[in-house]
Amino acid sequence: MNKVHWQSPSNIALVKYWGKHGVQLPSNPNLSFSLSECNTSTELQWKEGNGRVDLVLNGESKERYTARIRDYIRSIDSQFPMLMELDLHIDSTNTFPHSAGIASSASAMSSLALCLCSMEEEITGKKLPEDKFFQRASNIARLGSGSAARSVYGGFVSWGKSDKLPGSSDKYGSPLPFEVHESFSDLRDTILIVDERIKPVSSRAGHKRMAKHPYAQQRFKLARKNFADLTEALKKGDDPNFIRIVEAEALGLHSLMMSSNPGYVLLKANTMNIIHRIRAFRELSCIPFCYTLDAGPNVHLLYHDNDSSELEEFITEELLLYCSDKYRIDDHIGTGPKKL
Ligand code: DP6
Repeated sequence: MNKVHWQSPSNIALVKYWGKHGVQLPSNPNLSFSLSECNTSTELQWKEGNGRVDLVLNGESKERYTARIRDYIRSIDSQFPMLMELDLHIDSTNTFPHSAGIASSASAMSSLALCLCSMEEEITGKKLPEDKFFQRASNIARLGSGSAARSVYGGFVSWGKSDKLPGSSDKYGSPLPFEVHESFSDLRDTILIVDERIKPVSSRAGHKRMAKHPYAQQRFKLARKNFADLTEALKKGDDPNFIRIVEAEALGLHSLMMSSNPGYVLLKANTMNIIHRIRAFRELSCIPFCYTLDAGPNVHLLYHDNDSSELEEFITEELLLYCSDKYRIDDHIGTGPKKL
């Protein structure tokens, strides 16, 4: 059997992708940074065959995920004409515990998309220029999970057409086309695990509820403004605006869930307890740090590396009390996927 192997990171969105149209196109430009420690490592093996797909995920074959991957592979066969004449064996492992309640679709689908693009190069013998290779991988990753479009790059990454960013596209993500202020190059993300259970409403179902959401148009307009303002804050190293926008996006995401039809709440009491403690301690200490939220109850605490020792006591003494078994994952901005 022939094989390729890629490791790809998870990412945390600062301006959220929430709502899509067409074939996995985002309703607003969004922006994230890639993590370093939370990764999926995927090995893809192929041989001549007739379109069979097997999946091993974290050492086990799971029917639910295998069915999703088979559908995905079928949905992209026009992009890879050779797929139906091959049998694929996909072996994926997350470096972060499955129970952490962290969405793995971004790292999983981006590592698989990178493997498919490398496989294509090996089979055809035609190599794309590096920038085109990653653009193609991002486009293919997007078709599996929108946020995965951003995980084929390291650092800060945007996805979605914006007048403010030349070269931006709804079809693929791209690294920011300007230099981010050096004060943001060392960003840390301590993930505070409030609840490890699988959330009751998936992101996929949440995106669907944006289609008829009463605030949808206002949200997309606001997200475009937040996107433009955040890119300026990143250029200038502007902490106050970074904090204001990132926290507004986190609460905005959850307010859209609460006000959709039917509405739902993914936040837990301890998510709110942590948010209140963060606000109070920031006021007292004047340390520029903030939180963001994914589509779940866990809190991502974002801060500069040089504030870590000052924040450590606050995290261990005050915030971990609200976490499940004092569970935390320490991560930071990463350099992107690696071919293994
Ligand atoms: C809240 O990328 O998981 O994390 O495209 O349906 O797979 P699908 O959705 P997904 O949505 C991510 C939503 C989010 C915000 C973000 O990452 O931008």
